[in-house]
Amino acid sequence: MDCKSNRDFISSPDAVCLKGKKALVSGAASGIGKAICWRLADAGSDLILVDINKGGLHRAQKEFHHFQNKIKSFAVDLSDKNNVDRLWKNIGDNAPDILINNCGIYPPKDYLEIEQAFYDRIFGVNLDAVFWMCQNFIRSREKQGGIIVNTSSIEAVLPFKDEMAHYSVSKSGVSALTRALAHDYGKKGFRVNGVIPGVVRTPGIDNQVKMAIRKMKFNLFNNGFQYKRRIALGRLGRPDEIAKVILFLCSDLASYVQGVMIPVDGGFLVS
Ligand SMILES: NC(=O)c1ccc[n+]([C@@H]2O[C@H](COP(=O)([O-])OP(=O)(O)OC[C@H]3O[C@@H](n4cnc5c(N)ncnc54)[C@H](O)[C@@H]3O)[C@@H](O)[C@H]2O)c1
Repeated sequence: MDCKSNRDFISSPDAVCLKGKKALVSGAASGIGKAICWRLADAGSDLILVDINKGGLHRAQKEFHHFQNKIKSFAVDLSDKNNVDRLWKNIGDNAPDILINNCGIYPPKDYLEIEQAFYDRIFGVNLDAVFWMCQNFIRSREKQGGIIVNTSSIEAVLPFKDEMAHYSVSKSGVSALTRALAHDYGKKGFRVNGVIPGVVRTPGIDNQVKMAIRKMKFNLFNNGFQYKRRIALGRLGRPDEIAKVILFLCSDLASYVQGVMIPVDGGFLVS
């Protein structure tokens, strides 16, 4: 059968068009989050930018000004549930159609040196924030449904870099939550998926490199060298290469994709 004679057929440009939609992106002031905002805005979506970095948010909002889309921003530390709940109260009846949980932190630390405050910070930003953001989103759109995309990491699948046990566990939690919500809320109109980025050159990664140089952490350099050798495509990723897959997951092209975590890693995990 000619697929165009199917009444449900949507042309490809229309399928990626997000005009009339609104997306909330966490960690929007930097790196992958900012790239996601570019892609979603380019596809026509209005944006709610959320980040702990007030100055960075301000700069990001200015960058997106030439789009005609409506753009709001909120400076929030998402590691605290009270802040997350307050954010959704402020958003009020104008709940977004799409939620992208992207913000995350990845400082290395030897497992034996981890103390409670460090642990709480890592899990607060990387996992608790995602947990409570999803809950608020699903509550606020119980009748309409919506789209969630969460950001995990290759470290949750294949621990590779030294001193990242805390990070691996927090990101494994993100993958588990993604699958559980996809299972529980699919029939209620929610599509829930995630991405598993490989190493992508971002300000966050650049800071890690500077820190490794400052502290002369030669083991981390060795990790980086070994990592690069293993990537099937032979190079690190670019923020927009993660953003393009997230746009796909947000779009109608992915209308039957549910509960998957898509590696976007240049083939690292298969090499
Ligand atoms: N860059 C990589 O190589 C890579 C690889 C795998 C996974 N990831 C994941 O991708 C996501 C984005 O990473 P990135 O490299 O773009 O990072 P980045 O450091 O460049 O940007 C992260 C953003 O999150 C914000 N943020 C941090 N803590 C926050 C908090 N408590 N509340 C609100 N906002 C907060 C920061 O201010 C920053 O703007 C993270 O979840 C990271 O774990 C990154």
